[in-house]
Amino acid sequence: MTPQETSEPAVAAVVVLAAGQGTRMRSSTPKVLHELGGRSLLGHVLAAAAPLRAGTTVVVVGAGRTAVEEHLAAIAPDAVPVLQEEQLGSGHAAAVALSAVPDVEGPVLLVNGDAPLLRAETVTRLVAEHLRAGSALTVLTAAVDDPTGLGRIVRDDDGRVRAIVEERDATDAERAIREINAGVYVGDAAALRRTLARIGADNDQGEQYVTDVLALLVADGEPVGGVRADDPDDVLGCNDRVELAARRRTLNDRVLEELMRSGVTVVDPQTTWVDVTAEVAPDAVLQPGTQVQGATTIAAGAVVGPDTTLLDCEVGEGASVVRSHCQLAVIGAEATVGPFSYLRPGTRLSRGSKIGAFVEAKNVEVGEDSKVPHLTYVGDATIGRGANIGAATVFVNYDGVEKHHTTVGDHVRIGSDTMLVAPVTVGDGAYTAAGSVITADVPPGAMAVARSPQRNVAGWVRRRRAGSPAAKAAEAAENEAAAAGTGRSEAPRADTEQ
Ligand code: UD1
Ligand code: CA
Repeated sequence: MTPQETSEPAVAAVVVLAAGQGTRMRSSTPKVLHELGGRSLLGHVLAAAAPLRAGTTVVVVGAGRTAVEEHLAAIAPDAVPVLQEEQLGSGHAAAVALSAVPDVEGPVLLVNGDAPLLRAETVTRLVAEHLRAGSALTVLTAAVDDPTGLGRIVRDDDGRVRAIVEERDATDAERAIREINAGVYVGDAAALRRTLARIGADNDQGEQYVTDVLALLVADGEPVGGVRADDPDDVLGCNDRVELAARRRTLNDRVLEELMRSGVTVVDPQTTWVDVTAEVAPDAVLQPGTQVQGATTIAAGAVVGPDTTLLDCEVGEGASVVRSHCQLAVIGAEATVGPFSYLRPGTRLSRGSKIGAFVEAKNVEVGEDSKVPHLTYVGDATIGRGANIGAATVFVNYDGVEKHHTTVGDHVRIGSDTMLVAPVTVGDGAYTAAGSVITADVPPGAMAVARSPQRNVAGWVRRRRAGSPAAKAAEAAENEAAAAGTGRSEAPRADTEQ
C-alpha cells in the first residue's frame, strides 16, 4: 500500500528549507518566490509534498522573510513559517525547524525549497521506501550526466549509502561520482534532532550542512538508505536564472506532453506555455504562441491562439480565441474572440456571442448570439441576446469619479460610432442612429437619433480651394451633370460663408 492509499498521514511533518539568500539569482525577490509554470519555486515544492498530508508543514524563512511569509499565507495558510535568523547552513535551518515543532515525532520530510520539478509520485515513493526499510534516514538521489555543483552520494562496495559530500569538499574520486543528492530526505524526527545537534561547520563554506547527518547516522550504526528518482529531472535545483529558464522549459515540456497524450492538440510545443494549474480538455487546440495561465480552463473543441494569453479564464466548448489577451473572462461555448482584442476581468460572453477585432471589454455580460464586432470599448454593461454593437461604439462608463452601468436589451442595433453615456438603458429591439451620443434612455423599439443635422455648404471648395485637385474634380462632376441634363443650370448657392 502506498502512502497515498492509507488514511494515516505518511509523514508527521514536512520541513521546507527556504531561508537561503539565493545569491546566484541576483534578485531583490527571494529565490523561492521566483515563478515558473504558474507557481513559485516554493509552491511547487509544497504541491509535491501535499499528498503526504503531513499534520505539520514548516517552512524555514530568512532571506526576504516578509515576502516569503506573505506568499505562504496566500498559497498555504496552514504552513508555519519558522525564522532562521542567520543563514548558517541547511543543517542549521533543519535544526531550527525541528526545534520549533518539539512534539513532532516519526518520519519527517526535509526538502530544499528550490526543487520545482519534484513530483508527488517521487516524494511518495521515497517515503514508502523509507517506511518499508525502517531506515533512520533515506535520501533521494539521481544519476545525472552533469553533477557539477551538487552533493555526491558516496556508497560502499556493497552499494550502501555512506555519506554525502559537497563538491567543494570532494576528492577527485568523489567528484567523478555521478549519483547526486537531490536535497530531499525523509528522516526519523528523533534521529534527526540527535544528529543535527552534532554537525559542525568544518567545510569549505563554513556552513552547517544537513547532508552531514547521513554520515553521522552511519557512524552510529543506524540504517540509512537512498532512493533513485526515476526521472533525473525531478531532482534538479534552481540556483540562477539560467537554471530557472531551463526548469521552466522542462516543466512546460512535461505539462504539454501530458496534455497531448490526453488528446489536446498542441501545434507548436516550443512556443506554447501552459501552467501546471490550468486545465485543457481533450480535442482542444492550442495554436502557436499561446499562454494558458493560472486557473484557466479550456473545454473540448475550443481553439486558442495563435498568440493568445489567457489568465484565469474559462473557455467553453467549441469557442475560439485568436490573437487576444484575456484575464478573468468567461468565454462561453461557441463564442468567438479576436483577432486583437483585450478581455478584462468580469467579461462574460454567453453561448455563440462574438467579440471581434480591436475590442476592449471589462465587466460586461454579452448575451447569447450578441456581437461586438469591431473597434469598441465596452465596460460595465449588460447586453441582451441577439444584439449588435456597431463599429467604434464606446460605452462611456466613467464620469471621472464613478463608474456607471449601461443596459442594452435583446435584439438592439447600436449604430456605428454611438456613445452610450452611462447610466443609460436601451430597450429591447431599439436602434440608435450612427454617430449618436445617447444620454437618455431609449424606449423599446424606438430609433434614437442624437446628432446634429447635416448642413452642406454648396460650392465651398470651388470658392475657397480654387485650383486645387478637389476643386477641379468638383467642377468636372458639375460639368458632367450639366451635360447629362441632370445638374442644376445655375451654380449652387452657398448657404453661408465661414
Ligand atoms: C544542496 C545540498 C547538495 C544538493 C543540492 C541539491 C547542502 C549542504 N547541500 O546544495 O548536497 O546536491 O542542495 O540541489 O544542503 N537553506 C536555508 N538556510 C541556510 C542555507 C540554506 O534554509 O542557512 C536552504 C536554501 O534556501 C535551499 C536549501 O537550504 O533551499 C539548500 O541550500 P543551497 O544553498 O541551495 O544548497 P546547494 O548548494 O544547492
Ligand atoms: Ca540549491
